[in-house]
Amino acid sequence: MTVLVIGSGGREHAICMSVKKSKKVDKIYCAPGNAGIASIAEIVPIQAMEFDKLVAFAKEKAVDLTIVGMDDPLVGGIVDRFEAAGLRVFGPRENAAILEGSKSFSKDLMKKYGIPTAAYETFTDPKEAEAYLRTAKMPIVLKADGLALGKGVLICNTLEEALDGVKTIMEDKKFGDAGNTLVVEEFMTGREVSVLSFTDGKTIQIMSSAQDHKRAEDGDQGLNTGGMGTFSPSPFYTEEVDEFCKREVYQKTVDAMAAEGRPFQGVIFFGLMLTEDGPKVLEYNCRFGDPEAQVVLPRMKNDVIEVMEACIDGTLDQLTLEFEDNAAVCVVLASEGYPVSYEKGYPIQGFDRFDDDQFYCFHAGTAFNEAGEIVTNGGRVLGITAKGENLLDARAKAYEATEWITFENKYMRHDIGHALDEV
Ligand code: AMP
Ligand code: GLY
Repeated sequence: MTVLVIGSGGREHAICMSVKKSKKVDKIYCAPGNAGIASIAEIVPIQAMEFDKLVAFAKEKAVDLTIVGMDDPLVGGIVDRFEAAGLRVFGPRENAAILEGSKSFSKDLMKKYGIPTAAYETFTDPKEAEAYLRTAKMPIVLKADGLALGKGVLICNTLEEALDGVKTIMEDKKFGDAGNTLVVEEFMTGREVSVLSFTDGKTIQIMSSAQDHKRAEDGDQGLNTGGMGTFSPSPFYTEEVDEFCKREVYQKTVDAMAAEGRPFQGVIFFGLMLTEDGPKVLEYNCRFGDPEAQVVLPRMKNDVIEVMEACIDGTLDQLTLEFEDNAAVCVVLASEGYPVSYEKGYPIQGFDRFDDDQFYCFHAGTAFNEAGEIVTNGGRVLGITAKGENLLDARAKAYEATEWITFENKYMRHDIGHALDEV
């Protein structure tokens, strides 16, 4: 088979690596890819939102299956475009990707179908939002309705901050049109867990759990980022939590989408918070997490292509997902200054010790310079993943491997997996 992967981050590098292991695949293309992906896939210089060019490319190269890694093209309807051209593609259609594309849609869905989530109100008029906030209990959470690179969420401790937040999102439009509608949500506390799943629109099978570290600095301080590191499995995702979510969250979500005439085929990422009142859904995403994929996929035993084809063909009930009985930790190496401003173009050294078996170096923001060297090209540069017998072993190995890599302005958190010390 010939496979095309769409995206350019660490997640797509992890997807490409899993695809490469599939016995069904003999050629991989990745658009637009990065310098690391170039070692396993042929890089195609087409951006993820250039749907016409991607469709034309897939036809020209007789691509058998396209895998869309990123949220923007999914929410923008890339799957519908590929299907209309008679091409096979893995990912939700536009009318299902709205599960991530609109927070007000997903909140209304959860309310309608009794899926546990934080209490909320939705506003399109900033004056009404302000009036509501004057009566609300602080802290409170404001969310821009649409896609905002994971940054459209403001946690406000005081009324003043909340009123400021309304201005930022709805009037100054800091997140663009994503802020036309505002979701105001009850503030919850508890541990967060990421659960990725495969679904064919009827059956859902979850992958091994993971936990992300979203803040930029040690001690969970600093700004929210796309994710600074992950571990899998999460020891806080207990059997009890699993049973509850299987009963109240996962299947209910798939059935709700089908009942709404929006069958979801692809990956649903459940962002859960384990509150005192039980697990609640913080958010849905319509694709693999980044950097969750970098700790979950290397532990998956199944042929990823078989699983994806089962999602497309509606035969997911005929297979069982299997994960290695071990653990993985990913530490993101970023450019100093991320997520605000950072420099690019610094050469990176130290790739040779990664074996893609116990130690992985997933590229995120990397490129080749004119001299053919691999250089930094983004905020998140690399994701260093190590597998170990258990989480502590994996964490020690991942941090050891972060030392092998050098580049100017290298920045990382030193406490990925800190919660493991409490177990
Ligand atoms: P989201 O993009 O909706 O996952 O929000 C980003 C981050 O904001 C989450 O990972 C949480 O850490 C935090 N967050 C979102 N919603 C809430 C909430 N209702 N209560 C507390 N924290 C939240
Ligand atoms: N790591 C969180 C996300 O991919 O949205």
